[in-house]
Amino acid sequence: MNKITVSAPGKLMLFGEHAVVYNRPCLVTAVDQRMRATVETLGTLEFQLEAGEVKVTGYKKPLSDLGKGDIPKGAKFVEIAAKNIAEKHPLKSGLRITTSSEFSSEFGFGSSSASTVCVVKALSELLDLQLNNKEIFDLSYKTVLDIQGKGSGFDVAVAVYGGTLYFITGGKVIEPLNIKSLPLIVGYSGVKADTVTLVNKVKESFVNRENRLEEIYDEIAKLVEKARDALIEMDWEKLGELMNENQNYLSELGVSIDKLDNMIKASLTAGAYGAKLSGAGGGDCMIAVSSRDKNQAVADSIRQAGGEVININTNADGVKIEK
Ligand code: PMV
Repeated sequence: MNKITVSAPGKLMLFGEHAVVYNRPCLVTAVDQRMRATVETLGTLEFQLEAGEVKVTGYKKPLSDLGKGDIPKGAKFVEIAAKNIAEKHPLKSGLRITTSSEFSSEFGFGSSSASTVCVVKALSELLDLQLNNKEIFDLSYKTVLDIQGKGSGFDVAVAVYGGTLYFITGGKVIEPLNIKSLPLIVGYSGVKADTVTLVNKVKESFVNRENRLEEIYDEIAKLVEKARDALIEMDWEKLGELMNENQNYLSELGVSIDKLDNMIKASLTAGAYGAKLSGAGGGDCMIAVSSRDKNQAVADSIRQAGGEVININTNADGVKIEK
């Protein structure tokens, strides 16, 4: 085999963002919009990358320079993933990697993590390394930390395992939840958010109130436990109530913005059981849950508040070989 295509899902954080960076649990689901990577071996000892979705075209360098020098932002995750594999399993031939995405990298669906996972899985197959899911998670998470320095790894885990996960920082627990459905309405704020900036911002704004910060994280952790039960019982009304409570804590952390607040308020006014931002905050997406008969009204209301409604299904498959 000298060519393989692999895909991995995007994600939506359901509960527990920010707290999960500090040893608490979260809940995350895989969405049915996927990232794809085709990896092929080359006759020359070169690393080549085409990632049109992040404006990287015609990128190439000698294999011996993998991970060295100035790496364009859009190439970082793929190149460092390849470097991390090559350090453990020296490459005997060059590589050409082509990535593409079914979703915009602006949504905050975790395109960087999903592409990292695709590359690790593809190289595992191509080089016959037979890495299991935990090993793929560990290598991909290391790649994300090498680049960002921070992050719980929840997005990496769901790109690997798919479904809906109960997850604790760094993959201490990665537990797939047996749920049949999870109907969410997703609204994109149109504002791009930077995860690391927001994680740092929370830390800085609580610098003299660390006790309160710990309390908030503990309360969020309790909500995660309750939400896990509500998800399994498919008690959407309860799940909505818990979303509202989680959103209040996220507002106190200072990571919500007016646009997200307006979209959340709009969905509640239209009859949603609950709504919250999803991910680091500062932009990206919000999620809402409602009874089936109100879904349309909730979606319309989010649009009226200036949001873009994104149609997705949750609980999608994890990383897989396409061909
Ligand atoms: O910005 P996102 O969607 O990748 O979500 C970040 C969630 C945080 O808890 C703030 C960070 C993390 O790595 O868990």
